[in-house]
Amino acid sequence: MAKPCKTAILISGSGTNLQAFIDAVASGGLSLELAVVFSNNPQAFGLERAEKAGIPTACIPHTDYPDRATFDRALIGELEPFAPELLILAGYMRILSPDFVAHYSGRILNIHPALLPLYPGLNTHQRVLDAGDKWHGSTVHFVTEELDGGPRILQGRLEVQPGETAEELARRVQAVEHRIYPEAAAWVGSGRAKFLNGQCWIDGKLAEEPVIFDY
Ligand code: GAR
Repeated sequence: MAKPCKTAILISGSGTNLQAFIDAVASGGLSLELAVVFSNNPQAFGLERAEKAGIPTACIPHTDYPDRATFDRALIGELEPFAPELLILAGYMRILSPDFVAHYSGRILNIHPALLPLYPGLNTHQRVLDAGDKWHGSTVHFVTEELDGGPRILQGRLEVQPGETAEELARRVQAVEHRIYPEAAAWVGSGRAKFLNGQCWIDGKLAEEPVIFDY
């Protein structure tokens, strides 16, 4: 069997998606080696989750650095000893510098709580409700220099319920994220999904549209 892909998970906060990865690997349902968890926020609860799971952690506050490029160079310095083959952004609330993205080109995944290209940026659940949309969900995509704009791999979609609040919707979307993110990472880790020439390929075919799972 192929060796599990060495993976770094980057977080800024609670880390419920990180927990989904920890649980999936522990149950034998996901073949990744969780090599390191990094946070730019020393208070991130996700760091505790990682420690409890026995995963090495690293943390450097971005506030210690004068600009994004310098911070991202320091971040590469933290990650390199672990030689990650795959980077998972799991609620990592920092925009990455072009040099960082180029360094790990095609090897960075992000999850965004919306059906991209709809609603890049923040406050997605309220924006979906304000627009009266029927569908909402979350997207796993390869990271490029364009914020929330890289090629999409997998979307989890759900129907907005009448009278649902942004908090209720956020909870349901997060539950979907915990299922689709380890799944999409497994596809990339196994080589089933690939980033080639700026596009996503799945099972050897160009995936102009993401795979959609309905919940
Ligand atoms: C997740 O819902 C993720 O989609 C979102 O942050 C949350 C992190 O939750 N990411 C973004 O908004 C990135 N643009 P978690 O810390 O509990 O995994």
